[in-house]
This record gives sequence, structure tokens and C-alpha cells, in this order.
Amino acid sequence: MLITEENWPYPTWIAHRGAGKLAPENTLAAFRLGAAHGYRMFECDVKLSADGVPFLLHDDTLTRTSNALLQWGADVSAVGGDHDWGTLSQLDAGSWHSRAFAGEPLPCFENIAHFCLHNGYGLNIEIKPTTGQARQTGTVVAQHAARLWRNASVPPLLSSFDPEALAAAHDTAPHLPRGLLLETLWKGWLETALSLECVAIICDHTLWETSSVTQAQSAGFRCLSYTVNDASKAQRLLDLGVEGFITDRVDLFAPASSQ
Ligand code: G3P
Ligand code: MG
Repeated sequence: MLITEENWPYPTWIAHRGAGKLAPENTLAAFRLGAAHGYRMFECDVKLSADGVPFLLHDDTLTRTSNALLQWGADVSAVGGDHDWGTLSQLDAGSWHSRAFAGEPLPCFENIAHFCLHNGYGLNIEIKPTTGQARQTGTVVAQHAARLWRNASVPPLLSSFDPEALAAAHDTAPHLPRGLLLETLWKGWLETALSLECVAIICDHTLWETSSVTQAQSAGFRCLSYTVNDASKAQRLLDLGVEGFITDRVDLFAPASSQ
């Protein structure tokens, strides 16, 4: 399926890191909870283990969202990308959040992909390289996404703040749609998105104003935003013509089944 601004198969509402803050971010438990709240598309952060396995983790380090420090002590590197997947897969990525999720494992990307594919859910794969690994991460994540979604009617949406990661994804799997993530409107953002043949600009919601929406839409991009957590902000964006919302508040916004 060719994804364009007109031919857009994704729902309006996307659950951030699975289910926002209601469950441990970037875990299968979060995806299940987001789905139970009616969400049919999810965003997650993907990086590489030391042996090249894509897995879900937001930060460079495991400290905030796993028991790595407790398990390994302070002398062992807390950088997720420094460890093989066999070691990472033993970590508890749920206890930090709450007792209800104790023992929830750190997921590999493949398992999350199977959950989405099996249930017909959309996935926004944020390529979140460990510092210094942009090209390698973009390449490997795109390879895996192309393989896993090879028979799917709707491809995953790849996104990144890092143009180098998106360029690598483009070179590896040009047919997979891409979105450029922005936390500022840095000089050259529009030209960069055009040169990477992106289909969407995904901005911090505060960056969308009439001028930026007009610029993006005139160049043929869909306008999406993160992280939209209250109704008045969502309404402001809707009024501007923003068409996609990544939210933590899966408990507040109830996506209609058609959205
Ligand atoms: O992909 C949208 C959003 O997830 C980007 O910010 O830091 O939550 O990954 P962050
Ligand atoms: Mg993210």
C-alpha cells in the first residue's frame, strides 16, 4: 500500500509507548492495556541490543524503567545497547511502575510486532538509537519491519528525531512510510523531510501553528503531534488541521472504532 497524505490508513489516535503512564511504558502489558481502552494504533521506542536485536526502550539507559541497577549493581553499564538480548530479556521492566506489573519483561520488537499484526493494530515504530548508533539502528529496524510486515496490508509507520536513522531506513526499506519527529522547528526541517521522502511530520504539539501546518501540508505531509494529553490542546490542534495524536491519556480520549 502506498501511503500518502490522501491515502492514510492509520487511526487518528495513537497510544504513546503502549498505554502512556497507566502501565510500564514500552511493554506488552502496556499494549494490552491500550488495546483494552479501544486503541488500535500504538507508538513505541526501538533500539538495538549489543548483538543487534531490536527491543523496546525509551532512554539510552535501563535505569529508569527496569531493575537493571538493582540486579547488576552500579559497576555494570546501564546502557541498554551495551548488553546482549539474552541478558536484557531477563530484566524486570514492570516493577519500577507498580506491583501489579512486577515481572513484566522487557520486550523484543518481534514480539510486539506479532501482537500488532495478529490483532490488526497499527504500529508507529520510533527508531530511538542508542547515542552514536543512528545508521545501524535505522537499517536493522527497517530490515526487521519489512520482514515482519511483508504480508500485511497496512505497513508500520517508521519515525525518528534522527535524520540519519531515517535515511538508513529509507535506504533499507524505501517502501515503508516514514515520519520526521521534531521537538523544535530547526532550520531545514521541511527540506530534510522532503529529501527523506517522509509522509508525515510529527511535532511536539506546541510547534503546530497556522504557519507550520500550512508549510507541512502544502509540501504534502500529514501533520501529527505528540504528546497530546488534554482536551483543550487536542481541540486547538484539530482546529489547525492536525490529523494525528499520540497520547498518554488512553483513559481520557476514547478513539471511535473508525478512528
Ligand atoms: O514518537 C512520539 C514521541 O514518542 C516522541 O517523544 O521522547 O516520548 O519518544 P518520546
Ligand atoms: Mg517515542
